[in-house]
Amino acid sequence: MIEIKDVVKIYENSITALEKVNLKIEKGDFLYVTGESGAGKTTLLKLIHGDELPTSGEILYDAKPVLKQFPLYMWRRKISFAYQDYMLIEDRTVFENVTLPAQIKGESFSKMRSKARAVLDALKLKDKMYERVRNLSGGEKQRITIARALIANPDVLLLDEPTGNLDEDTAETVMRYIEAVNEQGTTVIMATHHFMKTNGRPKRIIKLHRGRIIRKAYV
Ligand SMILES: Nc1ncnc2c1ncn2[C@@H]1O[C@H](COP(=O)(O)OP(=O)(O)OP(=O)(O)O)[C@@H](O)[C@H]1O
Ligand SMILES: [Mg+2]
Repeated sequence: MIEIKDVVKIYENSITALEKVNLKIEKGDFLYVTGESGAGKTTLLKLIHGDELPTSGEILYDAKPVLKQFPLYMWRRKISFAYQDYMLIEDRTVFENVTLPAQIKGESFSKMRSKARAVLDALKLKDKMYERVRNLSGGEKQRITIARALIANPDVLLLDEPTGNLDEDTAETVMRYIEAVNEQGTTVIMATHHFMKTNGRPKRIIKLHRGRIIRKAYV
């Protein structure tokens, strides 16, 4: 469904973050993107989301270049990104933050509220719903970022180190929830340093090293 074809990303400071990356991600896949700090994981997710453009190569969706078939805002209705650095609006409440993408999509308030309740409950955040984001811990913010990405019901979910700031039990709760979302058909692409072996079905894994894929396997 998504194909990364000969993608090279050289940033303005002439750092090469990705070199000739080729990868196919099928609908419903769960893909781990691993590799050392600076390997290019976030860059790969940003290119798929359309935050950055490749220097050369293409990102295809159903065999056609993504941004030639949809304007960016339409692409963003299919794909959500839980950013490594949260990208939350600090002086707004958790509820306002997590429902923003659904609001943009034009969903009804009552539908958004019940979805927000269910997702925040699953991520152990229900009592924080009306708290301002600036008053929350790093691990809480990280889960809010994941909740925001989920509430929009994306076809494709991009997660950048979603468990990096979480204790083991909370990380496991989050992973089980993400696995359940994947099992319902959402494609998940997750960058992480520490992936967990769970009882879920086998997942694909790639390892990046200095912008190149050096391993493709199943875990
Ligand atoms: N906006 C940018 N401008 C210039 N260089 C960048 C930019 N973003 C990332 N880089 C560089 O590109 C390379 C890949 O960075 P990237 O953020 O993709 O790595 P990462 O694998 O996500 O690392 P981490 O595990 O630390 O999050 C690094 O050398 C980084 O310094
Ligand atoms: Mg990163």
